[in-house]
Amino acid sequence: MVGGGVVAARKVRWLVEVQAAVEVVSPDLCEELQSLAAEGALTYKARTFQRDDVAGAALIIAATDDRSVNIEVAEAAGLHNIPVNAVDDAELSTVIFPSIVDRDPITVAISSAGESPTLARWIRARIEVLLPQNTGWFAGFLGDKRRALKALGEEPPRSFWEALVEAGPERAVETFETLRSTPDTREVGQVAIVGAGPGDPELLTIKAMQLLQSADLVLYDNLVNREVLSYARRDAEQRYVGKKRAFDGTLQEDINRQLFEAAEAGLNVVRLKGGDPFIFGRGGEEIATLAGRGIPCVVVPGITAALGASSYAGIPLTYRNVALSVRFITGHVARGSQALNWSELAQPDQTLVFYMGLFRLAQITEDLQEAGVDGQMPVALVENATLPEQRVVEGTISDIAEKAERFEVSGPTVVIIGHVVRFRTA
Ligand SMILES: C[S@@+](CC[C@H](N)C(=O)[O-])C[C@H]1O[C@@H](n2cnc3c(N)ncnc32)[C@H](O)[C@@H]1O
Repeated sequence: MVGGGVVAARKVRWLVEVQAAVEVVSPDLCEELQSLAAEGALTYKARTFQRDDVAGAALIIAATDDRSVNIEVAEAAGLHNIPVNAVDDAELSTVIFPSIVDRDPITVAISSAGESPTLARWIRARIEVLLPQNTGWFAGFLGDKRRALKALGEEPPRSFWEALVEAGPERAVETFETLRSTPDTREVGQVAIVGAGPGDPELLTIKAMQLLQSADLVLYDNLVNREVLSYARRDAEQRYVGKKRAFDGTLQEDINRQLFEAAEAGLNVVRLKGGDPFIFGRGGEEIATLAGRGIPCVVVPGITAALGASSYAGIPLTYRNVALSVRFITGHVARGSQALNWSELAQPDQTLVFYMGLFRLAQITEDLQEAGVDGQMPVALVENATLPEQRVVEGTISDIAEKAERFEVSGPTVVIIGHVVRFRTA
């Protein structure tokens, strides 16, 4: 390594990690290289580069900020036929460092042949997200099993390994056992009940994305952004099971049946729900059905509409000395119902967030005023939260129902009631 600055340090850190013997030639060293030298992780020649420094090296890196030195280094390396990399200088380099995703023993390398390291890094970040951290462990596991079976004189068909890879690292051990004991029958599949977030596809969790990548069947709701579905495995079946207000779509029992039938047929099912599955999402009922039939099931949380709306509309849900708690409430209750304790909801120092509250907004705001909430209490309607078409309508508890009508608010909307609305920044 010729050069002792932060650019050099970035490369040296990585070389040290893969246990290369590193020698650094430079009149001075940045802090990181000084500490690596102090730890004995590299050897250090404290002087300017001399041509014969390259002798005996397997790889030369020129990382000085003086191009004439880098040229000299590249020439010296060339004379000795040693591969050379001049950082960010494809012209002087005979080798380049691709961006890599390291899941040892699996390595993914991305190179733009020096055209755009930034684009290569961007692609790398996406692949990082798609490959679970335990991919390396998984590769080792598959290797061990292959060797063990070979030693027994067995060579399972390719479909055996495909089924095992398809099962993924989380289920590798049990799938291996099942495939070994009943090689011809598919095991029971798994259902993942996954929160898709409120709309913006980039709010999806990494886990949600990974499960979508390995699903055979995706059952999705009304409120799931179709862009999220593009993360699903290309040949996965995508089935719409949305139900709008008042159950005019597929009934819940029917969804439950579709879930267990698919799992019992051995499919990996993702049940994709808007927001979070356990917040007004009936995730609890689906789990109970699956558990009753002994079908393995995992739940992956999602960002619920209240949180998406709060962040994207710039309204904090709690605020020191102003809102000490926040409540998520369903507005989908029968008229005049005693299901909600209005006097409790009228207590000060809290923020109320109504889901499904648009339809009964006039009733809700009246009930709250009757219970003692001041008519000037600020309210925000956040419609289509986190999506490009997001809209915020602000008002007070006495005029918001009329404003909702006037501005024709009609998309999915959360109603935020409380002094925090005054702190809105976006
Ligand atoms: C049946 S609930 C489902 C809630 C979902 N499980 C969650 O955690 O966000 C449907 C209600 O969520 C709210 N909602 C969902 N997505 C929304 C969005 N992008 N913007 C505003 N409100 C939304 C609306 O109040 C809608 O009526």
